[in-house]
Amino acid sequence: MFFSTFVKKKIMKRIIAPSILAADFGNLQRDIEMVNQSEADWFHLDIMDGVFVPNISYGMPVISVIKKHATKPLDVHLMIVQPERYISTFKKVGADILTVHYEACTHLHRTIQEIKAEKMLAGVSLNPHTPVSVLEDIIHDLDLVLIMSVNPGFGGQSFIENTYKKIEQLQKMIADRKAKTIIEVDGGVNDINIRKLEEAGATAFVAGSFVFGAKNPGEVIRRLKNV
Ligand code: DX5
Ligand code: ZN
Repeated sequence: MFFSTFVKKKIMKRIIAPSILAADFGNLQRDIEMVNQSEADWFHLDIMDGVFVPNISYGMPVISVIKKHATKPLDVHLMIVQPERYISTFKKVGADILTVHYEACTHLHRTIQEIKAEKMLAGVSLNPHTPVSVLEDIIHDLDLVLIMSVNPGFGGQSFIENTYKKIEQLQKMIADRKAKTIIEVDGGVNDINIRKLEEAGATAFVAGSFVFGAKNPGEVIRRLKNV
């Protein structure tokens, strides 16, 4: 797998995942090309159903188009109820990493196994109010944990400071149990908080409005990658 090698070797280089939710959908191909040409590592795709979160984003046809043009892995973040209903469909339209919400899954272990059976990396996301301790008995099965640093549903919200503590606790759990899980942070990430988030234990960083709201998004990605 494309990053399992470095996860195993514990060469934790910083991963930047621009969130397409903040792109210009009228110029989607242009924005995808920008990410392709940039120092970004993944495309972050936010899928919202209007039920799990109070917003609806985009679905399968748009993911297929992104896949057609993207030269980097698609990191798909499902903010939907009953995500287990669509695992094979997301694989078909091009997801490489599939993350479901802890709060949306009754049989989380089974769902994770189904994602892996489709040969995708499996992630679980936690809302700001959900303690990391709920993952203790499943951490070994997870390729990735996505810590929400805003309430899911919208881009451009302010970062919740309690996130640092959660990342530290999760990093300790991963180290104590010798798991290989990587920690990704989503919401309000910028060039000021990224270092502190990395020090707390995060490796992958989603950034939406900070990247696409900038005059020169490619330059902002370079800053996030290197600051
Ligand atoms: C929020 C989404 C995020 C969002 C991040 O529900 O999961 O991925 O696009 O956007 P910013 O970086 O603007 O907070
Ligand atoms: Zn997201």
